[in-house]
Amino acid sequence: MDSGFSLPRVGTSDDPIRLAVLISGGGSGLAALLRYQHTARCHRTVLVLADKADAGGLQHGRDAGITSIGVPLPMQVEKPDRRVAHERLVHSELEAADVELVVLSGYMRILTPWFVRRWKGRLVNIHPSLLPDFPGAHAHRDALAAGVNVTGCTVHLVDEGVDSGPILAQMKVEVRPDDDEEALQERVKRMEHVLYPDVLDRLCSGLILL
Ligand code: GAR
Repeated sequence: MDSGFSLPRVGTSDDPIRLAVLISGGGSGLAALLRYQHTARCHRTVLVLADKADAGGLQHGRDAGITSIGVPLPMQVEKPDRRVAHERLVHSELEAADVELVVLSGYMRILTPWFVRRWKGRLVNIHPSLLPDFPGAHAHRDALAAGVNVTGCTVHLVDEGVDSGPILAQMKVEVRPDDDEEALQERVKRMEHVLYPDVLDRLCSGLILL
């Protein structure tokens, strides 16, 4: 079956898959991944890219000696064309760095079909809920409002929808009666920091087949 998803080649510790990690904020997930990659793996981060010049997480990349750049929205471009113009800038940075797999880690922009089609199968995301429940930018708030006892995190390949595409792995996290958004987010992030490196290992070593 042609799923339309073209997965990365098989990486090895001698010839690891070249990752770009895309962030928007503090980048605790990026920091966890970089710690994991201290040991030789079948993937290696070669580029950290944020959609804001001052995203705090860029420092994690810089501290690790990795090219880490902010690529803000080109405000000089008229609004209807701005998103794709921004993605073209991102895309050229990815190409210039010979990136093989794009890892969204708290990247808070919805990607257009233009970008997704170019990276389909080589574009992964982590979302802080058990998808398909609670997609969007306020997963924890929505989970608390719904009164669920269990939430979690999901790693998935990105398709043209919002927080959709083939699910690669999920981990459950208990919602406690006294949880607020912040407490729940912190507990889910701790799981994310374990789940994402593990899924990247499997994806980059050819263990995930669609
Ligand atoms: C993470 O919890 C990630 O799952 C979430 O943003 C957080 C980033 O934290 N992503 C989304 O909500 C995407 N829809 P970090 O900047 O500390 O890694």
